[in-house]
This record gives sequence, C-alpha cells and structure tokens, in this order.
Amino acid sequence: METTAPKPSGLRRTLLRDDAARPSQPVKTLVLDAIRAGETFTPAVHASLSGLDPVLRLNDFSLFYGPTQALFSISMNVPRGKVTAIIGPSGCGKSTLLRSVNRLNDLVDGVRIEGDMLLNGRSIYDRHVDVIDLRKRLGMVFQKPNPFPMSIFENVIYPLRIDGERRRRVLEEACERALRSAAIWDEVKDRLNASALRLSGGQQQRLCIARAIVADPEVLLLDEPCSALDPIATLRVEELIHEISQRYTVMIVTHNMQQAMRVSHFTAFMYLGRLVEYGATPEIFQRPHLPETEQYVTGRFG
Ligand SMILES: Nc1ncnc2c1ncn2[C@@H]1O[C@H](COP(=O)(O)OP(=O)(O)OP(=O)(O)O)[C@@H](O)[C@H]1O
Ligand SMILES: [Mg+2]
Repeated sequence: METTAPKPSGLRRTLLRDDAARPSQPVKTLVLDAIRAGETFTPAVHASLSGLDPVLRLNDFSLFYGPTQALFSISMNVPRGKVTAIIGPSGCGKSTLLRSVNRLNDLVDGVRIEGDMLLNGRSIYDRHVDVIDLRKRLGMVFQKPNPFPMSIFENVIYPLRIDGERRRRVLEEACERALRSAAIWDEVKDRLNASALRLSGGQQQRLCIARAIVADPEVLLLDEPCSALDPIATLRVEELIHEISQRYTVMIVTHNMQQAMRVSHFTAFMYLGRLVEYGATPEIFQRPHLPETEQYVTGRFG
C-alpha cells in the first residue's frame, strides 16, 4: 500500500522512513487496516539486520492449514548466535512459524506451504531433506514442559540414544554438560535415576531445555517456554536463555514484552500471519518505525 517512486526494495523503502532528507514524510498508520483488507504491504525490516550472518532464512514463506492461510509470504533472516523474539497477538501464527522451522507442521493433515526456509543456506523443505536429521539440528521447547515418563538421565540423553549413541561415558558427560548448561545440575545430580515426572514445573522446563540442547542444535526454538512457570522459575529460564545465547541461535515466542526486552537481541512483530516489523529489540520497543508496533508493544491492542 505504501508508494514511493521509483519503487525501491522493501528494505530500501523502510529506510526511506528514517531518511533525514525527508523529515516531513508522514508515517503510514494503516498497515493493520491494509492487512485486514488483504492488501499487500512491505514489512518494516530495520537496517540493523542487514549484514548479519543468517543461520535461518525465510523466503516468501506461506503456510496453509487446509483452506486457511496461517502465514503470508514471510521473508526474514534470523541472525546466527543471537536471540530473536517473535511477538504478536494470539493466533497471529507465531507457533506455526516456529513449528515450520523443524517441520512439525508436516504432522498436521492438509498442511501446504509455499516459498522456502533455508537452514545454513540449504532448503528445509527440499524433498530430499531427512526430516529426522533436520529435527536433530533444531532443539524445541514447548509452552508446557513435556518430560518423557522416564528417568532424568534418560530424558536428557534421549536425542543421543535415538541417534545410536551407547557409550556410557559419552552419555554421562553429555548429560552433565546439558544439565549444567540448563542450570539444573545442582538440583538433580543426586537423583539422575529418579523419574523426571517428579520434578517441579520449572525444573521440568529446564530439563526439557537440557534435552533440547544435548545434541548441540544449530537453532533452539522456544515456544512460550515460561508461560507455565512462576516468576522465580521464569527468571532462571531467562538467565539460562541469556547464557546459552552465547553459543546457540535462539528463536523465542513470548507474550511477555518485558521478557522479550530482557532476553532478545532482535524482535519480530507479527500480525494476522504477516511479519509487520523486525529489528533490534531496543529499537522495536523504544523507537519502532511503525505506529502499529508501538501500539502493540505498549499494550494498546492485541
Ligand atoms: N493444526 C491446526 N489446524 C488448523 N489451524 C491451525 C492449526 N494450528 C493453528 N491453526 C490456526 O493458525 C493460526 C495461527 O495459529 P498459531 O497457533 O500459530 O498462533 P499463535 O500466534 O502461536 O497464537 P498463541 O499466541 O495463542 O499461541 C490460528 O488461526 C490457528 O487457529
Ligand atoms: Mg502459540
């Protein structure tokens, strides 16, 4: 809906908004109306994202649940070694986007996609991709902790077991390393053979994070990992995200704006299946390009 002549690329168009030579350029306030009306528009992707090495690249990615389109031509680069938060109102497609990265949506009947996602430059959706192998490279943690009904030890090393690892020493070392990284080692080191189901919710979630990182994934996908946790457990998981972000790329869906501000380097704002604005987290929260983003992050809608 935005028109600027000559027609520049999406990024260039976004930059024009900040162009000092055009200070009086009125900021469009109709993005959400345009989305609701089914019009196309260019998301505001900030310049701070260009030049970063993307571990994950979405190229015009769309997803349909049967006749219903849930994601609309999303193009975005997820920078390597950073935490990227996905925010937006309920039902806007955040979980769908995350589940598309490790192809969990393949398990839903009638799902169809258009466009592509590339992990380290290689298509995730190419028909030759080994989905089991792909999922090993992507750790995922869900809203509700989902420990398996087995011991703490067996839970953590499960991804290595299904990968055929049998050497006890290797498994023990990997287990300890993952539990330490997930900041739960001290709480469970004396009862590794106890059932994981006896842990508290916050402990179970950190256990699930340990399981998600034990095989050194390329990207860690976290879908509202703290929403079932109390404030103290939430804080621990946030500290943990901060710590593991030194080594991993993290994508985190959250409804908690403070959490997005605390843990992420970049934030993507989605609305009705579209990417609306994407940039460095402080910019998105303090100086967003679009008034709609400002309204959302300040709690005025959604
Ligand atoms: N398995 C499914 N089959 C059909 N439609 C689905 C399915 N999963 C999600 N949807 C639809 O896709 C849209 C996006 O859902 P999604 O769960 O991705 O949203 P979300 O942003 O994660 O929401 P929330 O913040 O409530 O978790 C919604 O309209 C939802 O009803
Ligand atoms: Mg969701």
